[in-house]
Amino acid sequence: MPRTTIIDCDPGTDDAIALWLALGSPELDVKLITVAGGNVGLDRTTANARAVVGLAGKAVPIVAGAERSLMAPFRAETAVHGNDGLGGVMLPEGPPLAPGIAADAIRDLLRASPPASVTVIGLGPVTNLALAFAAEPALVDRVQDLVLMSGAWSEGNITPAAEFNAWNDPEALAILLNLGLKVAIATLDLTFQARVTPAVIEALAAREGGACWRAALAILRALPMSRRMNGQGFPLHDPCAIAWVIAPHLFGVKDAAAEVDCTPGPSRGRTVIDRWNRLGRPANLALMETLDAPRFFDLLAARIAPLP
Ligand code: BDR
Ligand code: CA
Repeated sequence: MPRTTIIDCDPGTDDAIALWLALGSPELDVKLITVAGGNVGLDRTTANARAVVGLAGKAVPIVAGAERSLMAPFRAETAVHGNDGLGGVMLPEGPPLAPGIAADAIRDLLRASPPASVTVIGLGPVTNLALAFAAEPALVDRVQDLVLMSGAWSEGNITPAAEFNAWNDPEALAILLNLGLKVAIATLDLTFQARVTPAVIEALAAREGGACWRAALAILRALPMSRRMNGQGFPLHDPCAIAWVIAPHLFGVKDAAAEVDCTPGPSRGRTVIDRWNRLGRPANLALMETLDAPRFFDLLAARIAPLP
C-alpha cells in the first residue's frame, strides 16, 4: 500500500529533485504539498513547487503557507539556489495553487485520516508543520512517520553552529521535536554523504529520461561546489529524506535525543544531538547516520528518469 504523504518544502533546487523523487515513487501517495518561504521568498518557492509538479504531470494540491518564521523573517540562500530558487533552470509554469493556507490544509488531511497512517516529510524550515501541530496537537496520532531534513550533529552550513532549515525556524523545529514522536532526521552529516561530483553527474546523465530528469540534471549542473568538499562536490540534501521513506535499507539509523538551541546569539538553531545517550534522555530522533550513496543515486535515476 502506498503511504499517504504530505511534503512541506521550500523549493529550492534540492527540494525540486526531492519532489520528483517522491512523485516518481510508487511507495508514496503524495496527497498534499505545502510550501513555505526559505531558500527564496514564498512567491518563488510556490511558483517553483507548481512548476515541478506540473512538469511531472501530477495533480497534487499545492498550498502556500508561511512567508516568515515564527519569530523572524526567513533568510534566503540565493548563493546556492540562485535568485529564482532553481539555479536558473527555467521550467514551464505549473498549475495554480490550491486555496487555503498550509497549516490548515495539513490539519484537514490529518483529521480525515486514520490513526498512524500519514507520512509527513519536511524539507525546509518547518513553520507550516509546527503551526499545524501547535494548533491541534491531538493530530500527532495520525502520523505514521515524521521525516525531516534538518540540523547537524557537527557543524552548520548557515552559521558555524546551525544548519539552514533549523536556523531559519528553530522554534518551529523545537515544537516538532517535542511532539512525543521519534522524528526521522537527515542531518547535514548524513546529506554530506550524498556527495555529487562531476563524475556522479556524468554517470547519471548517461541515463535517458523525460523532461523532469533533464531538468534535474540541469539543476545538478547548476549547483555550486562546496568549500567543505574542497570544491570537488556538493551535498544533495532533501532527496535523502524522501529516500529514507522509500528505501530505508540504504541508511544506517540509530535512536538519539536532540534539542534545538532557540537562544539568540551564535548557537541559535544549533541541533544538539546526543548520539551516545550521555544525558540519558528518551530518544526523540531516528537519526540517519550512514547512507549507501551509490545506491541512493541509482534510486534517484530509476525513479525520476521515467517521469514525463
Ligand atoms: C537545507 O537548506 C536548504 O537550502 C536546502 O533546500 C536543504 O533543505 C540544507 O541545509
Ligand atoms: Ca529545502
